[in-house]
Amino acid sequence: MTESELETERGAMPSVRIMGDYDALSRLAADRVTEAVHCAPTGPLTVPTGETPLGMYRELVRRVEQGDLDFSQTHVFCLDEYVGVSPEDQGSLTRWLKQAFTDPIGLPPANLHLLPTQASDLDRAADAYEAEIAAQGGLALAVVGLGQNGHIAFNEPGSEPDSPTRVVALTPESRSQSADYWDGQHEIPPTALTMGLGTILAARRIVLIVSGESKADTLRRTLEEPMTSDLPASWLRLAADRLEVIADDPAARLLSGKEFEG
Ligand code: PGA
Repeated sequence: MTESELETERGAMPSVRIMGDYDALSRLAADRVTEAVHCAPTGPLTVPTGETPLGMYRELVRRVEQGDLDFSQTHVFCLDEYVGVSPEDQGSLTRWLKQAFTDPIGLPPANLHLLPTQASDLDRAADAYEAEIAAQGGLALAVVGLGQNGHIAFNEPGSEPDSPTRVVALTPESRSQSADYWDGQHEIPPTALTMGLGTILAARRIVLIVSGESKADTLRRTLEEPMTSDLPASWLRLAADRLEVIADDPAARLLSGKEFEG
């Protein structure tokens, strides 16, 4: 995305949907994935790991089981994975995504695009990953979660809005959030491959899902303070009306001018 393209989008505003509870948030996020797949069955999509999307995944699996949704043609690109870790490893984010989402929805294994975390030349492999996304026509939808430190995927503080898929050093905060997530069972590697903020910002639709009071201040800064690389999530606002924020009431409690829905 060029600077001038970013400029022209600045007039339009992201939409912010504040839902009464986590289930309502999960259903609306599932609606957005459903709409994207109905509109473009091949996607491609990218979706996050973490606690926040679990309800959305449960809802999407339910829709597939009921015969209302079909992912058999959809391509999914992984958002992030630790360097050196493969989907066979217990502490793999890709493994987690397969178990929580892509296996239960019957995504053909060949349609799950893995980050090349074991390549000998990671920079080159990251460029090839970008080319793979472009070859699929660019992302139709990026669903992302909000890190406590404002990261999006593993675009850690310091990430620029035009950053591509690349190797990043994980901050102590992200490593500790990850360690807690795995209940301390897995050693968190120091580096990861992450889809770039620029790659995510180029998606035709972006949905940021945010749940819980612990994210309230990060969400407020994301939406209401000047955009800055210190808080990479704030750059999502460059997507203007291509960005929809879906938050539950506890996560939204510090936002000014909020309207309740759901
Ligand atoms: P969480 O993680 O959904 O587990 O809070 C969000 C993130 O760090 O991207």
